[in-house]
Amino acid sequence: MKMDTNMSELALFGGPKTVTKTFSHYNSIGKEEIEAVKSVVETGVLSDFLGSWGSKFFGGKKIQELERAWEKSFKVNHAVTVNSNTSGLIAALGAIGVEPGDEVIVSPWTMSASATSILVWNAIPVFADIEDETFNLDPVSIEKNISPYTKAIMVPDIFGACR
Ligand SMILES: Cc1ncc(COP(=O)(O)O)c(C=O)c1O
Repeated sequence: MKMDTNMSELALFGGPKTVTKTFSHYNSIGKEEIEAVKSVVETGVLSDFLGSWGSKFFGGKKIQELERAWEKSFKVNHAVTVNSNTSGLIAALGAIGVEPGDEVIVSPWTMSASATSILVWNAIPVFADIEDETFNLDPVSIEKNISPYTKAIMVPDIFGACR
């Protein structure tokens, strides 16, 4: 990104703000979501997961309903819920069989869990460079970093710009 801006004038360094209006908060939680949460809370059982083999190993009724709905919606055989995106990344890397010493190419400009989820498997995060306009991984740099040890490429999109 080429800018003619004088760095000392940036708002970050005390200069005038480029955008002064405030953005309204988007609330994706409506009556339906509140009722759904209420119906679970009222049962007094939040998870119903049981950490030993049996039907409850797959979570409670609502969890299983959600997973089946996602399978249908995405036309896939299996959907697995997780408690966080970090857990999801760890699970995804395990699912594709990442092993100790494997390399996974990843962006250096994203949340730390992208790289640390790779370390969980004793695999090696290899940072490719990002594009200066989208801040997403640069395909040319990805290619340069592919080695005989590359097992996967993790491509987080930044700011919703997934191109
Ligand atoms: C790209 C990316 N990966 C992973 C995470 C981790 O998500 P969580 O906090 O749900 O574990 C975040 C959270 O902001 C994220 O932005």
